[in-house]
Amino acid sequence: MNDPVEPASADIDRAVVTLRSGGLVAFPTETVYGLGADASNAEAVRRVFQVKGRPSDHPLIVHLSDASLLNDWAAEVSPTAQLLADAFWPGPLTLLLERSSTVSSAVTGGRSTVGLRVPDHPVALELLRAFGGGIAAPSANRFGRVSPTTAAHVVADLGDDVEVVLDGGPCRVGVESTIVDLTSDRPIVLRAGGVSLDRLEEVLGHSVDVHVSAEPSTGGARAPGMLEAHYAPNARVVLATEHELVDVLIEVLGSTTGPVGLLAEGALVGLPEDIVELEPAGTADEYAAVLYSRLRQADRLRLAVLVCVPPPEVGVGLAVNDRLRRAAASSNDESHNSD
Ligand code: TXA
Ligand code: MG
Repeated sequence: MNDPVEPASADIDRAVVTLRSGGLVAFPTETVYGLGADASNAEAVRRVFQVKGRPSDHPLIVHLSDASLLNDWAAEVSPTAQLLADAFWPGPLTLLLERSSTVSSAVTGGRSTVGLRVPDHPVALELLRAFGGGIAAPSANRFGRVSPTTAAHVVADLGDDVEVVLDGGPCRVGVESTIVDLTSDRPIVLRAGGVSLDRLEEVLGHSVDVHVSAEPSTGGARAPGMLEAHYAPNARVVLATEHELVDVLIEVLGSTTGPVGLLAEGALVGLPEDIVELEPAGTADEYAAVLYSRLRQADRLRLAVLVCVPPPEVGVGLAVNDRLRRAAASSNDESHNSD
């Protein structure tokens, strides 16, 4: 089911022409779909912010076809940057480095740093190679909404606002890249994602600091785009451990008028009746891969509440827990459900 779809080369050609003329192209990566523009074209980059409805001081990640292009975008490639690029690219890791003087401040939100990554998806790599330059791309969802993991999600969210949507099948990883800030003495993880802390620490040979805020409202200092990271469906998201689940379900059922859904790793017995059980999410890796489509499914089913039992916080499970906490936190936000 997760085999990437290969778009015809005519589709790639059309995408390249679109990028070169300042248009927008949505493309698959191994994490989520990106909404791409020519990173060297400030006007095209501004359109990305417009279409997403994202504040212009939230920087975009520049996607590259391979690590040898790092020098075009970063002022300096430190041994640590090279080490991580060699170990994880192509892959779900974004490196924050001091930007080279030629990088447009439209991309970096006026910052002195730039986020760079080589995605691990055959369609993204084919597009990047054919285009030749860097593609600036945030996740291809409207600001504050759940990231898209299929081409259909992108079309449902952005419709005609994007000229080309390349279909590469469902995203393999399913949550965004891990972001590592390499601009201070020690690497700092700013966003948990597809590359686990364990793997990072293994390659670096030492522990890394993590500055990932659980609360979206306080997560903005270093990676401002995290403010957009509501990752929330319309349904209110409530988290529960498997141990407390039945009590939580009974309480939620008692206080909710609409349908109540459940997302858990596996099938569970002894649940109250009337619970809409979504298909189990599976192990942490599988949970990550289906998370965003399950959140969208909750909305299609018009669930009032989605109770989620998160996977263990190991490997990519850390990122799944992070996104679920953000979804739950923004459910409590007064402004939620108003759009
Ligand atoms: O997996 C991913 O990273 C996906 C795919 C499409 O590559 N992209 C993605 O982009 O998640 P976006 O824009 O939704 O999230 C990028 C995050 C934001 O929180 C942004 O603030 C942060 O990266 N970021 C990018 N460049 C930065 C910079 N120079 N300084 C601080 N934060 C930066
Ligand atoms: Mg995003």
